[in-house]
Amino acid sequence: MRTDTGQVFRLEDYRPSDYLIPSTELTFKLSQEKTVVVAELTIERREGVAGNPPLVLDGDGLTLRRIAIDGNPLDASAYSVTPDELAIAAPPAAGRFQLTVETEIDPSRNQALMGLYRSNGVYCTQCEAEGFRRITYFLDRPDILSVYTVRIEARRDEAPLLLSNGNLGERGDLADGWHYAVWHDPFPKPSYLFALVAGDLGRVGDSFVTESGRTVELGIYVEHGKEPLAAYAMDALKRSMRWDEEAFGCEYDLDVFNIVAVSDFNMGAMENKGLNIFNDKYVLADEETATDTDFANIEAIIAHEYFHNWTGNRITCRDWFQLCLKEGLTVFRDHEFSADQRSRAVKRIAEVRTLRAHQFPEDQGPLAHPVRPRRYREINNFYTATVYEKGSEVVRMIRTIVGADAFQRGMDLYFERHDGEAATVEDFLKVFEDVSGRDLSQFALWYHQAGTPNVTVACSHDARAGEFTLEFEQSVPPTPSESRKQPMHIPLAFGLVGPDGQDIAWSQVEGASVEDGVIHLRKRRHVVRFSGVTERPAVSLNRGFSAPITLAIEQSAEDRAFLARHDSDTFSRWQAFNTLLTETLVAAFRSLLGGKKPAFAPDLLQLAGAIAADETLEPAYRALALSLPGEADIAREIGSNIDPDAVHAGREALIAAIAEENRQLFKELYDGLHHAGPFSPDAASAGRRALRNVLLDYLSALPGGAAVAASHYSAATNMTDRIAALAGLAHRHRNSPEAVEALAAFEARHRSDALVMDKWFQIQASTPGPEAVEVVRALMEHPSFSISNPNRVRSLVGTFASANQTGFHRADGAGYRLFVEAVLEVEKRNPQVAARLATALRSWRSLEPVRQAKAREALLEIRAAESLSPDLRDIVERTLA
Ligand code: TRP
Ligand code: ZN
Repeated sequence: MRTDTGQVFRLEDYRPSDYLIPSTELTFKLSQEKTVVVAELTIERREGVAGNPPLVLDGDGLTLRRIAIDGNPLDASAYSVTPDELAIAAPPAAGRFQLTVETEIDPSRNQALMGLYRSNGVYCTQCEAEGFRRITYFLDRPDILSVYTVRIEARRDEAPLLLSNGNLGERGDLADGWHYAVWHDPFPKPSYLFALVAGDLGRVGDSFVTESGRTVELGIYVEHGKEPLAAYAMDALKRSMRWDEEAFGCEYDLDVFNIVAVSDFNMGAMENKGLNIFNDKYVLADEETATDTDFANIEAIIAHEYFHNWTGNRITCRDWFQLCLKEGLTVFRDHEFSADQRSRAVKRIAEVRTLRAHQFPEDQGPLAHPVRPRRYREINNFYTATVYEKGSEVVRMIRTIVGADAFQRGMDLYFERHDGEAATVEDFLKVFEDVSGRDLSQFALWYHQAGTPNVTVACSHDARAGEFTLEFEQSVPPTPSESRKQPMHIPLAFGLVGPDGQDIAWSQVEGASVEDGVIHLRKRRHVVRFSGVTERPAVSLNRGFSAPITLAIEQSAEDRAFLARHDSDTFSRWQAFNTLLTETLVAAFRSLLGGKKPAFAPDLLQLAGAIAADETLEPAYRALALSLPGEADIAREIGSNIDPDAVHAGREALIAAIAEENRQLFKELYDGLHHAGPFSPDAASAGRRALRNVLLDYLSALPGGAAVAASHYSAATNMTDRIAALAGLAHRHRNSPEAVEALAAFEARHRSDALVMDKWFQIQASTPGPEAVEVVRALMEHPSFSISNPNRVRSLVGTFASANQTGFHRADGAGYRLFVEAVLEVEKRNPQVAARLATALRSWRSLEPVRQAKAREALLEIRAAESLSPDLRDIVERTLA
């Protein structure tokens, strides 16, 4: 394992490399414990570099076997080498030479899952961000673009399949049962996009004809026998390829596009040029094994990785500070794709829920960082919700500000101007300034300034003067190492909703620029006055979530309820109801802390019924509206001194009250949504299942609810319904005979399918209450669990730590003790996964004092552990700072 050098990387220290590597030829002789890699690098001194400065190549745990320049072995005095670096003091003065480097690596012992490793008997690689240096010495930085030719040699029986990036060249047999294949990728690429796969896998094949008429061979490789489970992924791939041509004019550029599913993978998937490698969780699906959420995730991630071919691969990043250049933009593109394939309104609400659940707590806690960070110690820890999701929101705001038309011209210009380059965020902003003639310098703060901006709004209406006034104040809270903040350019889409539910037309506005239904805030305070408004409107602000902010608006419950019924913007309509629910849940928490039973306004309970029954709304939308803010959402709203047990109790009380108020209605709707026909994963069918399952959740909270959930379980004909029933039983009726029986039945049915067992782990890990600690501890001994598989660890320990507020934050600290042990156990093998797991404690300062002290002890204990990896040390130290 790499030791922590404590080095800090800074954006302002960027300097182009003195040397370039225009071409890279690799030969792999694959063997489980001793793989030999021969790299033939063409090295060129960069133009304008004086003399022959040293050439310093990155390595990580490598063993050097041979080194030569222009075919001549190098004298030991001419270079210095450690496992982590190879330096040649005085490279040839001519400035262009061939460097041969032979290294030896041990894929079988690679449990960090970076570089070349083995998953289920398959050789595979993961090189982003800095894994290539675990394969060979190289200038392992994204601005070094090279043309790769890769020769793979392996035993045919062990690895009949040999894949790398680009197009297949020659292949054939070698002596002693070995064979080889040569792949060539004509597009220069950074080392992080290199990939190799070798093993024995099943193939699902198809083809795609691009808009210019070229035929692309498509292949998805999975474990033998799982081929039928790749059909949905293949369909999603073809739809992604077509969509990218239509929406962004991006055509695929190689003759083949391959996807390989592996079961040991640190993240979701990886966009290696022409050879995407996926966590099998995001490839394999059928109705028996995958939920509707799984299908939607597969579609989105297949699209995301495919879209990287242009945003990430053809145009890559100059350095890792620019990560959002490819990730934020590609998330934006996959969001748009899913919106087009499914329901735009529903998709937007789901996106915002995710942003609030993952990015807001990051931005509001000790790990806050700008969308484009200025410093890092471990880049792996910056693959965050801020870089990805907030990064996507920033791109969305650019489109809102310049307009859809200029946005499209800007993207065209971006592809035209920067194809084949390693670009920066400045390059990206510049294309939109150039096409629109707008100055985006204040807007650029969204990339540079961390923290979620808070906007407060007060409204007043002067009926006689016909004036409606909005007073805005924005502030960006301090974040680590940034105490003073500049005011931001915040685009707020809005409407003034009249008594008939229609937007009111006003005649004049002063105080801020207002264009096409968007108020542009640029100063700390704005007083925005509309004239020609005779009737008092209900103001609908931040429509479509046009800016990723928190908005505190003085508004009566009546106005909110009115908007929840009538706002023409579906997002804001959902938001109005969600705000009512959140306010109610915060009040319930406060009552409980004060020793009182929470009371709920009958209007609110009835409004829930009205939304459930509103046939003019899509079922999926109604399902989202009826799923209450989660416990972590409520805790975030409360802000400090959190007692998770009271949050949980308040939320359960509201669920029960809504269910009681609407018992008959919910039962009828639930029965009416029963579907007997064949399964289809499409969005409309999934939406009906989602609504029915939300109704089930309410019904299972009523007396007799266990029986309802149990019969839902036994009647289920797909995984979505089965999981909904199992969650209802385990979470609301744990230890009931029905729950015990259903959990056992599920285990018996699915014990041989690891991905399905992950769901079984998740349900138990998220079952509220103090027993969860012992349950999780016991499940860590279950034969289906493995501490070295990231999916297992995330399902059991990750779910417990991030989706079980009452169990994890148990007042006696037992949850934290389990957490510390698990994090340190994972860290021995896989620092990247351990570091991510450890972020579960990032909001520790908002807990009540007793828990807070115990959480701090847990963090200190991790920090004190011996030989901590840079990954985990970085997270723990920032969390404690
Ligand atoms: N580039 C990948 C994506 O977002 C992310 C990724 C996959 C990754 N595997 C990784 C990042 C390993 C860091 C380490 O599409
Ligand atoms: Zn990505």
